[in-house]
Amino acid sequence: MAEVRQTVIELLGQLGSSREARQYLKQFASLDESRFAVVKVGGAVLRDGLDEMAAALAFLHRLGLTPILLHGAGPQLDEAMESAGVPIEKRDGLRVTSERVMAVARPVIYRANGAIVDALEARGVRARGILHGVFNARLADRERLGLVGEIESVELEPLRSAVAAGALPVVACLGESSAGQVMNINADVAARELVWAVKPYKIIFLTGTGGLLDQNGRIISAISISGDYEDLIAQDWVHSGMQLKLAQIKDMLDRLPAETSVSITSASKLTRELFTHTGAGTLIRRGERIEWLTELDERQVQALSALLEQSFERRLRPDWFERRRLEGLLWAESGRAAALIARGVDDIPYLDKFVVTPEAQGEGLGAALWQVLRGRFKRLYWRSRASNPIAGWYLQQAHASFRRGAWIVHAIGVEDFGRLERLVADAHQRDSGWEDDQA
Ligand code: ARG
Repeated sequence: MAEVRQTVIELLGQLGSSREARQYLKQFASLDESRFAVVKVGGAVLRDGLDEMAAALAFLHRLGLTPILLHGAGPQLDEAMESAGVPIEKRDGLRVTSERVMAVARPVIYRANGAIVDALEARGVRARGILHGVFNARLADRERLGLVGEIESVELEPLRSAVAAGALPVVACLGESSAGQVMNINADVAARELVWAVKPYKIIFLTGTGGLLDQNGRIISAISISGDYEDLIAQDWVHSGMQLKLAQIKDMLDRLPAETSVSITSASKLTRELFTHTGAGTLIRRGERIEWLTELDERQVQALSALLEQSFERRLRPDWFERRRLEGLLWAESGRAAALIARGVDDIPYLDKFVVTPEAQGEGLGAALWQVLRGRFKRLYWRSRASNPIAGWYLQQAHASFRRGAWIVHAIGVEDFGRLERLVADAHQRDSGWEDDQA
């Protein structure tokens, strides 16, 4: 077992750094086994990507991780209903489930469940199909919706016992009443209730597109509910389906611990999403508070110094902070990102340090911090080394940039050329505070 683990860790190392992979593996394995992840498998994956999904999950299983799978069978069911000549009817986004519909649906759901279990077992992963006994439900509205169930409680025992036996639980979206009446449960509703009951560290949606797309069809890497949500749902390119999805995810996360995150990705990108900082897909978190501090006590200075030293892998001179004329500090609640603002020329704030741990970058905390920074300061200037990996990004953000030798000075919101010259001159002569720089 140790040997397998080693091989796998090396393999993971090829994805990014093995240090990153190891760190995530440790995090994912640190909770109770059944709380690593709930994976919701979309209909498109069931149809076109079963083996790919099984391969990705087999990989997790070999690492000793046991996700809980939840699947619907929407598209398959639509197809079956069409060929059976049963009309499809939806109300409030829910599938009206007459007895006739249920007669068609039940075997389709059983088959989908069986297909997932088979695909996993074909990859050498023990899996257990769980068709009943998880969602205790009552009829939502017999008149309007037929046999659509509203979940009353979630029974975790069947899942826990599967996980304890080393088998991946594969849960179908069926519920039943205490009298044994089987009910159709909407997959999004089931996912929400299951996630609230399990409280997993990760919630994973496996989809065909592999993430949420922006207006140019590119995957949005990270979304923070506290920072981006309001803005995002107000965009005209965010169609109603995506709005609904985001609202559901927000709802989910609102009731879970802050460290919980949602990843929307595809089967083929799942490993990269889970075991690298930058990921592959869309990561959604509740996001964290970013505070504005105008005075720092000893402890805060130390926390800031430690963050800077660790992130840049350099040492600061002991007096680095004293020598600054502080305007203020933007500080992320988790202590993983900060922007230090010093007083600059002509009362224009100078962005002295901008720091985000690599892990927090993957979560989009850097972008969130930048947004807060831009909201607070209409004018700003700073410098960066031309060789800095984020130099290109700074060039995009700045209104004006001036390169001299190894350094680029950037400015936002300043137009007067004489003033820009003064800012550039000032930025060049500033003390970096790093031990290995000339003071
Ligand atoms: N590996 C980390 C996780 O799964 C970070 C993923 C970052 N993903 C992203 N799409 N930005 O929690």
